[in-house]
Amino acid sequence: MKITIIGTGYVGLVTGACLAELGNDVFCLDLDQQKIDILNGGGIPIHEPGLEEIVARNRSAGRLVFSTDIAASVAHGDVQFIAVGTPPDEDGSADLQYVLAAARNIGKHMQGFKVIVVKSTVPVGTAERVGAAIETELKLRGSNATYSVVSNPEFLKEGAAVEDFMRPDRIVIGCDDNSFGNIARAQMKKLYTPFNRNHERTFWMDVRSAEFTKYAANAMLATRISFMNELANLADRVGVDIEAVRHGIGSDPRIGHSFLYAGCGYGGSCFPKDVQALEPTAQDYGQDLLILHAVEAVNTKQKQVLGAKIMARFGDDLSGKHFAVWGLAFKPNTDDMRAASSRVLLGELLRAGATVSVYDPVAIPEAKRVFALDFAENPELLENINYAATPMGALDQADALAIVTEWKAFRSPNFEQVKTRLKQAVIFDGRNLFEPALMTDLGLEYHGIGRSI
Ligand code: NAD
Ligand code: UGA
Repeated sequence: MKITIIGTGYVGLVTGACLAELGNDVFCLDLDQQKIDILNGGGIPIHEPGLEEIVARNRSAGRLVFSTDIAASVAHGDVQFIAVGTPPDEDGSADLQYVLAAARNIGKHMQGFKVIVVKSTVPVGTAERVGAAIETELKLRGSNATYSVVSNPEFLKEGAAVEDFMRPDRIVIGCDDNSFGNIARAQMKKLYTPFNRNHERTFWMDVRSAEFTKYAANAMLATRISFMNELANLADRVGVDIEAVRHGIGSDPRIGHSFLYAGCGYGGSCFPKDVQALEPTAQDYGQDLLILHAVEAVNTKQKQVLGAKIMARFGDDLSGKHFAVWGLAFKPNTDDMRAASSRVLLGELLRAGATVSVYDPVAIPEAKRVFALDFAENPELLENINYAATPMGALDQADALAIVTEWKAFRSPNFEQVKTRLKQAVIFDGRNLFEPALMTDLGLEYHGIGRSI
């Protein structure tokens, strides 16, 4: 099928590359010339396991094209995916300016019939606004072109995006119940046929319910994490091991094991913004989302948990102290630093007078970019960050090691080396990678999250 992807970011690039891999003829549009140049030069602008090979293979087969040409992108796809960003507006609501700009561009150029698929995470009612934006443009140029707007939210996780896209748990598609909606449904069914070979994974619903399902999923996952983090903080006070509790409750199939890991808070481009974005929607309809306020508040506090533990141990004034930090990305297998907990920790350590030596397997270039923004008002603090080339290299002369991201490479270090390199054998583990009893046996002072047994 002929597919256009509008917005070649994390979601757009993965969607475009994977749909090309399945034999579709895909045109990826982005307004960011630099991104398109990188892609056309054979590179990829993000770190995502397995993606580079798929992009290269399909580009050379001619099934995957990258361009900034809006008119050509609209002419190309019978199905037009909108996968642009929906960042938080000032009040936390989803800023729809990019989605609506993409819709207007479609309306300005389209001929005949198009299926418009909103893949971006958008509030209930956005598909109607996309339709209205297209309609306005069609009227302006007296066009009788037709369309149907479909909601097909994306559930992929960064770091496992290709795998998640290719083997989805479910595909949620919301279509209108009218004649154009029926044509759109048939096209979506055809496009997603390869994903439904062994069993049917598609859940068909109305457009508004599909839009809402995406927020409900992210809000539910974020709630589980904040709930476990709150329990972990209590576990620390009452002498309970949250990891034992996690196993104990996760084995109940009604609860399940996933997304029960206490840690130094959730980050990334989506949980923080999507939890926030539901609130203005609820307020518009006269409801206060009590649970989600708490989920967000707990997470804001949880990102400070490592800093608080470090200051409880070393004092509020960290002048003259030096800390090693392992992991900067908001999660492993990505270089994404959006809302990463490392940004909060570094802010606290540097502002309290410490110096740091940081290591991340892939996120250092992105970290340099975001730290320059985070410390724009105190650029002198940037000089107190040393970027180490190896995890062990970050440890020399440090008063303690703080672990923020659970990269595999950090899971079984040579502890003897860790001990000798550190000035003080102290570990603050924001992702509960190690067993407290083993750490004690090895002569390391260990501070996990909810593991003060
Ligand atoms: P992103 O910022 O990585 O990419 C968005 C891209 O859209 C950018 O490259 C930008 O230049 C481009 N763009 C903006 N306006 C455009 C326009 N009018 N025409 C063409 N290109 C345009 O964003 P992302 O992380 O891919 O997220 C996109 C959407 O998908 C968001 O709504 C997000 O909530 C949702 N989502 C993201 C993930 C994820 O893991 N990142 C997962 C599921 C859903
Ligand atoms: C999340 C969802 O998992 C995806 O389904 C969704 O499509 C995506 O948001 C989105 O809408 O963008 P992602 O943000 O890529 O995916 O990463 P996750 O694996 O969900 O992790 C998010 C954050 O939660 C990370 O900071 C991670 O460290 C933290 N986390 C996760 C925990 O603290 N504990 C857990 O048990 C799980």
